[in-house]
Amino acid sequence: MNLKKNKNADFVKSSHHVRFAVQSAFTITLIIGCLNTISVAAEAPAGFDNGSNGFVLQGDFNNDKVLFEKRHTVAGGLGPVYNAQSCADCHTNPITGGSSQVTVLRAGIYDGKQFTNPPGGQVIHDRATHPSLQSVVSDKWNVRSLRLSSNVLGAGFIEAIDDRTLKAIAQKQPQQSKGKIKGQVVMADLVEVPGAKRVGRFGWKSQHASLLSFNAEAFRSEMGITNALFPTENTANGRSVTKYDTMVDPENNGWEVALITEFVRATKVPPRDLKLAASKEAMAGAKLFSKVGCDICHTATLTTAPSGTLVNAGTFTVPAALASKTIHPYSDFLLHDIGTGDGIVQSGGLSTRSKMRTAPLWGLRTRTRLLHDGSALTIEDSIKRHKGESTVVTQQFNNLNTLQKKQLLVFLGSL
Ligand code: HEC
Ligand code: HEC
Repeated sequence: MNLKKNKNADFVKSSHHVRFAVQSAFTITLIIGCLNTISVAAEAPAGFDNGSNGFVLQGDFNNDKVLFEKRHTVAGGLGPVYNAQSCADCHTNPITGGSSQVTVLRAGIYDGKQFTNPPGGQVIHDRATHPSLQSVVSDKWNVRSLRLSSNVLGAGFIEAIDDRTLKAIAQKQPQQSKGKIKGQVVMADLVEVPGAKRVGRFGWKSQHASLLSFNAEAFRSEMGITNALFPTENTANGRSVTKYDTMVDPENNGWEVALITEFVRATKVPPRDLKLAASKEAMAGAKLFSKVGCDICHTATLTTAPSGTLVNAGTFTVPAALASKTIHPYSDFLLHDIGTGDGIVQSGGLSTRSKMRTAPLWGLRTRTRLLHDGSALTIEDSIKRHKGESTVVTQQFNNLNTLQKKQLLVFLGSL
């Protein structure tokens, strides 16, 4: 297998200077602000510190975070069927906006030719305000999936990645892997612009392309709160919930979704464990990560679009705080078949059935359960589960000696 040369070397070297980079980011932003003609890629602000990344002022960030953490009640539109009471019920570790062990249940029907959603949709709500509305999985629905709550910290930078950047990665992968690896670009509907699509990047299946689309759907699907973009109430496995729904739809006029989206966009990216990252072992491990080919999918470095770029079909202008930033998400945000796919079809059609998005590895050290369904409990187990497109890379991992494996795991533990 013709694995590419170690393009991580620069990043590994620069990880010493993360602290410096964060400090100087402010200066660089000022310079860009003054000149506004040159485009210098600076490291995105990183930290588990509840600080704004500069997209909004810290005071606004704090107020928006209160909404992300707000526990909704029936009087505020919660339910009648739902999964949890606040965004932060599920996105919480190690700070608000992180991931958690909470799973969401999905199901569907696959007859060998076609995938169909069950009555009422593929999200099966775990909670209801009345027992007659309890949803359950039917024996007839042969596709069943648990999905862990993913991290949203740093998502504003992911949204600011140009479609072309992700498409270019997909194009390059076959030649990096003797044709074994080819990420699938998913074109997702932008809910806020009917008819418009953009390269999907959010969710375990890259099913959404914009944070407004994702968050508005989460509001309706996870908490049962209808809003301008998702004005139709959930049902209980297709049964109407009207009898127990006292509020007029849409229950939220959209300002809350907008402010929650402002919060998500303003979060900093998950930081490395700087001490561990600077250790000899982690630095050797970073080289091995690239050498065995993990980074063909788990892309170490991406750069966001320049300031002023119009994204989301022209509805969002990439602001200076999110623009021309270097990020290290360790994902290509493309779908791959590594043999773990959950069979669920969302954006992108039937060809995505057995694929999952390359899990971003930033913040990995805060995760207790791995793979979309938490079916791997150690990092090494999750690597060994990589088959399909990743078979050759997994073999290369297995061929590492004990010291090299340890180095790679120390590196992963620093993410
Ligand atoms: C019951 C738990 C739960 C609640 C409540 C919840 N989420 Fe999530 N969230 C998830 C799960 C599970 C995923 C992964 C979704 C998938 O791909 O199936 C996710 C994914 C996301 C993502 C995509 C991150 C990525 O890159 O994959 C965003 C953004 C998000 N949620 C925002 C929100 C917002 C905003 C709220 C509140 C309005 C919210 N979530 C409420 C469980 C939850
Ligand atoms: C062909 C693309 C591909 C390659 C190569 C690859 N991965 Fe992955 N990786 C994925 C996908 C896709 C997932 C998500 C699978 C799922 O959720 O079912 C994943 C998940 C993971 C996870 C779990 C993360 C989480 O949050 O649950 C870890 C850890 C991981 N990969 C590490 C590695 C390492 C280390 C290597 C190299 C030895 C590697 N991967 C090679 C595509 C790849």
